Amino acid sequence: MASSAVGVDIGTRTITVAEVATSRGSTVVTNFGGAMLPMDAVQGGEIMDPLEVVSALKDLLDDAKIKAKKVWLGVANQRVVVRQVDLPWMEESELRGSLRYQVQEHIPIPVEEAELDVHIVDEFTSDEGDRMQRLMLVAGHRDMINAHVSAATEAGLKPIGVDLNPFAILRAMGDDSMLDQGRQVLVDVGAGVTNIVVHQQGVPTFVRMLVNGGDDITRALSSGLSMSPEDAEAFKRSAAVGNTDDAGARIVTEQADAFIDEVRGSLDYYQHHQGGAGGPQLGGVVLSGGGASLVGLRERLEAALRLPVELGDPFARYPAKNTVYGAEDLQRVGPSLVTAIGLALGGLE
Ligand SMILES: Nc1ncnc2c1ncn2[C@@H]1O[C@H](COP(=O)(O)OP(=O)(O)O)[C@@H](O)[C@H]1O
Ligand SMILES: [Mg+2]
Repeated sequence: MASSAVGVDIGTRTITVAEVATSRGSTVVTNFGGAMLPMDAVQGGEIMDPLEVVSALKDLLDDAKIKAKKVWLGVANQRVVVRQVDLPWMEESELRGSLRYQVQEHIPIPVEEAELDVHIVDEFTSDEGDRMQRLMLVAGHRDMINAHVSAATEAGLKPIGVDLNPFAILRAMGDDSMLDQGRQVLVDVGAGVTNIVVHQQGVPTFVRMLVNGGDDITRALSSGLSMSPEDAEAFKRSAAVGNTDDAGARIVTEQADAFIDEVRGSLDYYQHHQGGAGGPQLGGVVLSGGGASLVGLRERLEAALRLPVELGDPFARYPAKNTVYGAEDLQRVGPSLVTAIGLALGGLE
């Protein structure tokens, strides 16, 4: 088991890095940082302009003084899919060895072009009396994953693993202390991708990567008010969801509501497609990602979902060590570091 690890989250607008370390049973964040990416270098979580990504990542590693080379990367975009699949039970080693030959019908990517990963979610007996297992199958286009790996490599890093961002978010923020009220939902709002995870005691039971995020609002403001993207971004950061006083405020509120509808639709789908009348009970939501900072979003989501929604604070669980940031700053930046911290935590396992 490694005693420290680094996660690198190449997002749509921001690259974030986090380094975690364990000693004597406690885990702390020893280093973190973030750098903005130029517009369109990454779209919907996919690298479009590798040179821009490499240069931003190099600068970030210098600024954050990250010395370690071995890093964990994450992906979340439309070229990776997660499917729930039921297969006859078998030993895990046999399952992993034969996965390629068993799953083509379940994924929209030719297996020859896919990287596969699997999480065992449950074991059950079929109506016919056969021992079965329920799996969360992840399949990503190999060239998309390679683009992430080579960007990190070009920046001087040695990627040792690629994880799905939703799993990283679950690792960083998953908490079962409210299980008696229902399952916990994690919603991480990025610029171009929003990751949704429902879990039960740390085991993911639902994963959805929406290609919606904070930048939808910025874009709508920019076109609706004929503003530059920079001005639209600044406008958004001073706006509040729920306000309808002027044209700009109405755009923000409309866009946020459309976004909330997407999240609610995903959770409705999940509840209706998971066994039993009414589906699993949901207990509460933890909101993270840079988009979670939009003023009023948390309250609006809470009202729409009729569930308690809290802002994720990864530093409450994994304190920041040797940082120049004060408590208030850590609370402000914490939500946008959840993915990078979760990726790093995966490296400790
Ligand atoms: N204070 C804020 N108010 C509203 N939106 C914000 C704020 N800070 C960041 N955002 C939004 O968060 C998004 C970036 O979140 P982040 O998690 O860094 O995304 P990604 O990892 O996809 O690049 C952008 O859409 C940005 O506009
Ligand atoms: Mg991010």
